[in-house]
Amino acid sequence: MAMNNNTFRVLELYSGIGGMHFALQESNIPHEVVTAIDINPVANKIYSYNFPHTNLLETGIEGLTADWLDRLDFNMVLMSPPCQPFTRVGKRLDTKDSRTRSFLHFLDCLQKMKCPPSLMLLENVKGFEVSETRHLFLKTLKACNYKYQEFIFTPLQFGIPNSRSRYYLVAKKYPGKFYFDLTDELQEELPACSKQWLHHIEPSEDCGETTCLSQDKDINCLLTCKTEKEEIRDFLDYYNKYSTILHQEEFENGISYPNCKALKGFLETNQSKEYYDQFLMPEKYFSLFVILDIVCPHLRKSVCFTKRYGHYIEGAGSMIQMSTDGQSVKDAYDLKMKTQQLKNRKQWSEEEFDVVRKLKLRFFTPREIANLLCFPHTFDFPPETTLRQKYRVLGNSLNVHVVAVLIKLLNQDSNLML
Ligand SMILES: C[S@@+](CC[C@H](N)C(=O)[O-])C[C@H]1O[C@@H](n2cnc3c(N)ncnc32)[C@H](O)[C@@H]1O
Repeated sequence: MAMNNNTFRVLELYSGIGGMHFALQESNIPHEVVTAIDINPVANKIYSYNFPHTNLLETGIEGLTADWLDRLDFNMVLMSPPCQPFTRVGKRLDTKDSRTRSFLHFLDCLQKMKCPPSLMLLENVKGFEVSETRHLFLKTLKACNYKYQEFIFTPLQFGIPNSRSRYYLVAKKYPGKFYFDLTDELQEELPACSKQWLHHIEPSEDCGETTCLSQDKDINCLLTCKTEKEEIRDFLDYYNKYSTILHQEEFENGISYPNCKALKGFLETNQSKEYYDQFLMPEKYFSLFVILDIVCPHLRKSVCFTKRYGHYIEGAGSMIQMSTDGQSVKDAYDLKMKTQQLKNRKQWSEEEFDVVRKLKLRFFTPREIANLLCFPHTFDFPPETTLRQKYRVLGNSLNVHVVAVLIKLLNQDSNLML
């Protein structure tokens, strides 16, 4: 296999906005993405904007052939196939979903290739692990002489305050081997040999108490100002008392992640009021406030941001409470208690709307979601990308840091294979 100075030649399938490519960069392994493939023109424009020199093909993966893949001469494949056929909230059509066809086609090509890649990484949603597609994938890997390990990880384990449980599989072709014990069980922890990468993101040194509130009780000051400690204590008193009801728990499946950084380290600061105002939650959604995941900047968790974020409320991602006025938290708590008992939430008086209004709820900005997904600061969108498109492609993407750690795990002692 042609290998230039031990540089990995990578094929990035379902490349989207390049989450895998950014993860390769973060992993620091010598690499060249020889080709990236995605069918979506919007995602592709963003990919090319960030990686103008990468050969990006806008085509369906179901059109590839084993011969063509052999000619690409790649030794690593990174891929995150469409997840809709496997999501727990979807219809779970699995192999019968037309969106799985391209992946099954790739598996077929893999078996026919003369020089299949030595290393492989796949990312998908939680739910993939119980699918027929996964069964066929593992069968193909065994038939092609790969050793593999499956994982379920959430960024919360890595110190990142965002819940995004995902299925990952890393595979090496014989004679490559892993330097940890492989098991047929899905692993939910990193192998001991890679624990040094777990806390790449250092836990935050402060827990919000060192920051302060401003005169206008706006969160922007909470993020930047360093005095007026009494005022923040006052707020936190209220907050601690009422927040467990108003905000979602910091737990995920009963586990807490105390080493997570506070959200405020991921938020945009120093933007104008007009800038933040465009992300304020429209009043038409106020009556849904009981089911929202509302977070404060000093919290250490947000829920998964889906591709519907920004124009859909239920289960689409967390909202930030911009107000740091303790009384408004208490009023909202009271309203939530009351509303939960009401059958018709639409029968609200202006006074009740005002309680939600005072919380100054806003959406996370696309840049903030990119930060939580650990995209580097260099990542950007072409100017013509609409807000809706930004949320959509980010919701489809992946956590760059988690994938970077898995790439490092794949690369452990790869010199033996090169
Ligand atoms: C889960 S997303 C992957 C996102 C990507 N990893 C990122 O960081 O943005 C799945 C991607 O597969 C692409 N896709 C879906 N069906 C495809 C097909 N048949 N051929 C090529 N790409 C396809 C979609 O356009 C989407 O960008």
